[in-house]
Amino acid sequence: MKKFFVTLTLCIVFFSSRADEGMWLPLLLGKQVYADMVKRGLKLTAEQLYSINKASIKDAIVIFGGGCTGEIVSNEGLIFTNHHCGYAAITDASSVEHNYLKDGFWAYNKSQEIPAKGLSVQFLLRIEDVTHRIDSALNGLSGTERAQKQSEVIADINTLYSDPAKNIEARVSPLFKNNQFLVFVYQRYTDIRLVGAPPESVGKFGGDTDNWEWPRHTGDFSVFRVYASAEGKPADYNASNIPLKPKYFLPVSIKGFKDGDYAMIFGYPGSTNRYETSYGIKLATEINNPSLVGLRDVRLKAMFREMKNDPAVKLQLASSYASIANYWKFYDGETKQLLKYHIYEQKQQDEQKFMQWAKGKPGFDNIFSEWPKVYDAWRPYAKQRVYLFEGILGSPLAKFASTLMKLENDIVKQGADALVVKNDIEAATAARIKFLADENKISDQQILAATCEMFYNDIDKNQHPIGFYEGIKSAFGDLKDPETFKKWSIAVFSNTLIFDDAKWLAFTKNPDAVVLQNDPAYSYAGAFIKNYISKYEPLYRQFVVKNDELGRLYLKGIIQMNPGKKMYPDATFTMRVSYGNIKSYSPRDAVLYEYYTTMKGVMEKYIPGDYEFDLPAKLVDLVKKKDFGQYIDKKANDLVVCFITNNDITGGNSGSPVIDGTGNLIGLAFDGNYEALSHKLAFDKNLNRTICVDVRYVLWCIDKLGGAGNLIKELKLVKQ
Ligand code: ARG
Repeated sequence: MKKFFVTLTLCIVFFSSRADEGMWLPLLLGKQVYADMVKRGLKLTAEQLYSINKASIKDAIVIFGGGCTGEIVSNEGLIFTNHHCGYAAITDASSVEHNYLKDGFWAYNKSQEIPAKGLSVQFLLRIEDVTHRIDSALNGLSGTERAQKQSEVIADINTLYSDPAKNIEARVSPLFKNNQFLVFVYQRYTDIRLVGAPPESVGKFGGDTDNWEWPRHTGDFSVFRVYASAEGKPADYNASNIPLKPKYFLPVSIKGFKDGDYAMIFGYPGSTNRYETSYGIKLATEINNPSLVGLRDVRLKAMFREMKNDPAVKLQLASSYASIANYWKFYDGETKQLLKYHIYEQKQQDEQKFMQWAKGKPGFDNIFSEWPKVYDAWRPYAKQRVYLFEGILGSPLAKFASTLMKLENDIVKQGADALVVKNDIEAATAARIKFLADENKISDQQILAATCEMFYNDIDKNQHPIGFYEGIKSAFGDLKDPETFKKWSIAVFSNTLIFDDAKWLAFTKNPDAVVLQNDPAYSYAGAFIKNYISKYEPLYRQFVVKNDELGRLYLKGIIQMNPGKKMYPDATFTMRVSYGNIKSYSPRDAVLYEYYTTMKGVMEKYIPGDYEFDLPAKLVDLVKKKDFGQYIDKKANDLVVCFITNNDITGGNSGSPVIDGTGNLIGLAFDGNYEALSHKLAFDKNLNRTICVDVRYVLWCIDKLGGAGNLIKELKLVKQ
């Protein structure tokens, strides 16, 4: 594997890159793309971008929560990220009386900041290559054996590089489809406080209608702060903790920019699969994506009906709704773009080329005779798997009920008095409290009925859990009649012990597996999961192991086939750098999209009282007065709200800093454009754009709309 690196690095000089595509590893920038970055407008040294000895930009970048990016913007640990990344923290801090989601929130001094329970940020300390170590342990192994050994070795390395006493966590990331392994070492801080957020009508302006679309007018940002112990060490929340003194923070530029200017993005792209096969594309467009979209559609409609009418329900469901809706629209768009741009056919051509090259090469020449068989074996069950995870378990009640399976098992195997059962009960009781707080029964009861019915209608009868639907039929009537499922769902909701404090207490005092087995919610979830685990999960495992194995060999072959080609690994929620330019684009014939949007456009979209396009009265007022202060864009004679770049990012990058050629923050990445929603599987050089909120709009919202000049004072503003 060492050779792999040498090949990668030696030939960089001779190949100019396709600058916009690529999620580059920060530790290899110097070797791979630095020269090209400079050509495109970068004015910093490679060391200023990433160094493990000196403070560098990488030290200002954090993993924010479980799936976003944030950046440090002051020497007091101030963090900028997206509004949709802070969303759960904002709704958690809110009540109908103090509705920060609706009205926004600003801390005018540190004592007003609100601890965000459960939220953490992680700083990347260093990255090391452990490929050799893992490869030598895997030597000669294949299939399940190899996969198992790989997980074991990775777990060992993670332990070795971690130091729990210092909150240091190491995670090996397999890259290039298990052809390379890097260990990423992080330090986690757990005292994070909410500092500010604009009203949702700004932070999520345009809602799901505008989501994944350009032109965009959303102020998708929120502000947090990371705290540390008096010694500057990671510590859980404590009133006496102090703001973290970071190793590095980003200056903020209010100079503005023009089309073609350099832009780079540091952050944590979650996942891509740019070497997906044609079979995988077909499985996505024909089975996986449409199934997910159809099921989410039903769930979202049920939730929306309740949220629209009741501010308390809106607060309760908003965060979960937003994340379901986000990828509902994504996967719908992905399917459309994959078909529109003939990605299936494109992948087939790539595979033809590979097969030509692989002829007579042992280890490579049989890949594409094996691969279709692997897909043929799994395809008949793929839909059922999506219907289980996105349908049956899309009901929060069923999902919670499913978490009781371990408890049932432990009672059966170890007896009701076992210590493990006691622990299970304790955990379940705590989880139940949380579940009940988040539960909206009206929508869930509809979801339960609808998804159970959809499974019945859409999934091959011989894949149904044996006897389950017959049971509904004999108790509630004709399975072709939707009313049957509604009646059944009502009965589940009124009889389950999960909603009944007295029954729950009785059960936990005297845990009896039979009581669980007879519970209508538990037996429902259990029937579908047991059906899946006993019959289909083994097939799925086999599919994954074989697909991974062939994927590894395929990519190994591609690397050999293209000696000297600079390659970046697929996104794995590890730190990457993307560089490119601010750039307009043409989405279709005769249409040109400008590279920025302004307040004029916000006002054009404004619909008073609308669920998605309303605006705060104060904002409308300020715009009328053209009160844009130092944040105005002189050329546009307006406030610039959002802009686009041709950077290569994906989900997980949300909240990432957009940085100019001299290292200043100019915006926050928050979305991708609809025309390039196939980007996880195929990057489109012409159409792909990253949608960013202009940092001048962010500052204007903080300063003029929020009145939080205290925060502006903390920043290092670059004006000239
Ligand atoms: N599409 C954005 C992303 O994945 C999330 C935007 C959140 N807004 C919304 N309307 N759901 O990063």
